[in-house]
Amino acid sequence: MLTQGMSETLSIVGAGRVGRALGRQLRGLGWRIGAVTGTTLPSARAAVRLIGGGHATHWLTRQVLDSKVILITTPDNAIESVAGRLAEIGGDEWRGKVVLHTSGANGPEVLKPLADLGAAAGSMHPMQTFSDQRLPELAGRIFGIDGSPGALKVARKMIRQIGGVAVRLSGANKAAYHAAGSFACAHVLTLMETAVRLLMSQGFTRRQAVRALLPLTRQTLDNFESVGSRQAWTGPMARGDYSTVGRHVRALADSPREFLEAYEAISRLACVVLSGKPGAALSQINREFDSGLNRKKK
Ligand SMILES: NC(=O)c1ccc[n+]([C@@H]2O[C@H](COP(=O)([O-])OP(=O)(O)OC[C@H]3O[C@@H](n4cnc5c(N)ncnc54)[C@H](OP(=O)(O)O)[C@@H]3O)[C@@H](O)[C@H]2O)c1
Repeated sequence: MLTQGMSETLSIVGAGRVGRALGRQLRGLGWRIGAVTGTTLPSARAAVRLIGGGHATHWLTRQVLDSKVILITTPDNAIESVAGRLAEIGGDEWRGKVVLHTSGANGPEVLKPLADLGAAAGSMHPMQTFSDQRLPELAGRIFGIDGSPGALKVARKMIRQIGGVAVRLSGANKAAYHAAGSFACAHVLTLMETAVRLLMSQGFTRRQAVRALLPLTRQTLDNFESVGSRQAWTGPMARGDYSTVGRHVRALADSPREFLEAYEAISRLACVVLSGKPGAALSQINREFDSGLNRKKK
């Protein structure tokens, strides 16, 4: 619970998945929620219901400025124009405010119009996935933070209260930081769905395919956590059995082109990030891919 600063107030601009989840958590921790904006009033009202506080506003109004802290949780490509519009609305009232966005790919520079007016501007990106289905766990999660000292102070305070861990991203290539999240999240999902479809093409029902594959992935991730990537690595490539990889390639030539391309790209990536002898592994795998495809063409 908030002890110091019980009166901290927070407006949420763009109350989608992240805005609702953070708003709900922070309200539960004692923050007073001010304006909650959506592009439509019904979506703002739905967000207020889920957060359990705040007042719904139809898009950007002066009420956003009634709070000390403003959290911008619109899609990435809207943040800059939202900041510009908020600067027009608030003018000098931005002096002393704190504004944070939650994008992982953008730095605080997209909030420049507000920083120019005297706001402390920054970003706090939760390395977590937020779907419409459920509010995810935030305790123990990493938040990448960046911005002015005043913005960092407030971001750290919020993250500490939530039980998260703040990591300063200053100087880092933020888009590369964000790409790491894509590898670990959306791309894992892409691979799971691809694997499910392959099994379904072999007669499995979706339910059977998920049941077959999910424990495999979970165990691999458990092993990764407990013994590290090299020791968790299993399968033909880990055993140096490149001829089996070649058989996979020939079998995948009947699937959509993207299946084979992804298989090849990921196999090469595995050579680089998992093999103890990346150069040798790469030449073996390239040979197998070339001969596998040539054999398929004949
Ligand atoms: N989802 C994740 O897993 C995740 C994780 C970490 C960080 N983030 C970051 O958090 C931010 C919000 O993501 P989200 O997933 O919460 O997005 P979201 O669910 O799509 O919600 C976006 C919100 O912004 C409003 N909005 C939509 N288009 C807009 C526009 N052109 N101009 C202004 N506002 C607009 C929407 O209003 P309506 O409700 O009225 O449509 C909605 O309230 C993004 O920067 C994202 O990169 C997301």
